[in-house]
Amino acid sequence: MVEKRIAGRWAADYVEDGMIVGLGTGSTVQYTLERLAERIAKEKINILGIPSSIATEKVAKALGIPLTSLNEHTHIDITIDGADEVDPELNLIKGGGGALLREKIVAYHSKQVIIVVDQTKMVDLLGLKFELPVEVVPFWNASIINSIEKLGCSSNLRLDKNSLFKTDNMNYIVDCMFHGIEEPEELSADLNAIPGVVENGLFIDMASMVIVGKKDGVEEYSID
Ligand code: 5RP
Repeated sequence: MVEKRIAGRWAADYVEDGMIVGLGTGSTVQYTLERLAERIAKEKINILGIPSSIATEKVAKALGIPLTSLNEHTHIDITIDGADEVDPELNLIKGGGGALLREKIVAYHSKQVIIVVDQTKMVDLLGLKFELPVEVVPFWNASIINSIEKLGCSSNLRLDKNSLFKTDNMNYIVDCMFHGIEEPEELSADLNAIPGVVENGLFIDMASMVIVGKKDGVEEYSID
């Protein structure tokens, strides 16, 4: 999709020589990775990437982007990641690709988080259409899911073909339909208070900027 390509590549030009760069996950960030690899080759910028998933790690390695980890570098200068939904306050739902836990850790340790999306991801209210992904430990799921549903959703354990989807952390994902999330901060805290919930896909106050790709350019949004 051309809009994803435009947003993904545009964001890569915010990366400066010498930066530690958080590398998100998904099809939009794929274009960011390709543009970063071009800049490394042409402009000879020196950067170190910290991938937010095994999939991104593989792509970055194949493209020749040098990598490090949050063990070697505890602070990230800039992270570029995708999102499934973005609200007017730039709060996000993430985790469509199942990478939400590492994505949230990477975003949390970043000075700046740039989100790259196409217009279809911009919504007035989170969770009206998209199911909120929640990462849970891979045992005692019936009880954990029961507690999650008491917060006002119906849910499904995510499947990968005929078996249960496993995250990079060997956990499961519960996709939760809330039909609109009016209090995302409160819901995020309530979900994470359930023992067995590892993390949820609400990213509150984490995005510094959202870049929306259009056919003929981008729109940039940030909260002052
Ligand atoms: C993965 C994510 C992705 O960033 C999100 O699903 C967006 O993906 P895409 O750029 O392919 O639309 O949160 O866990």
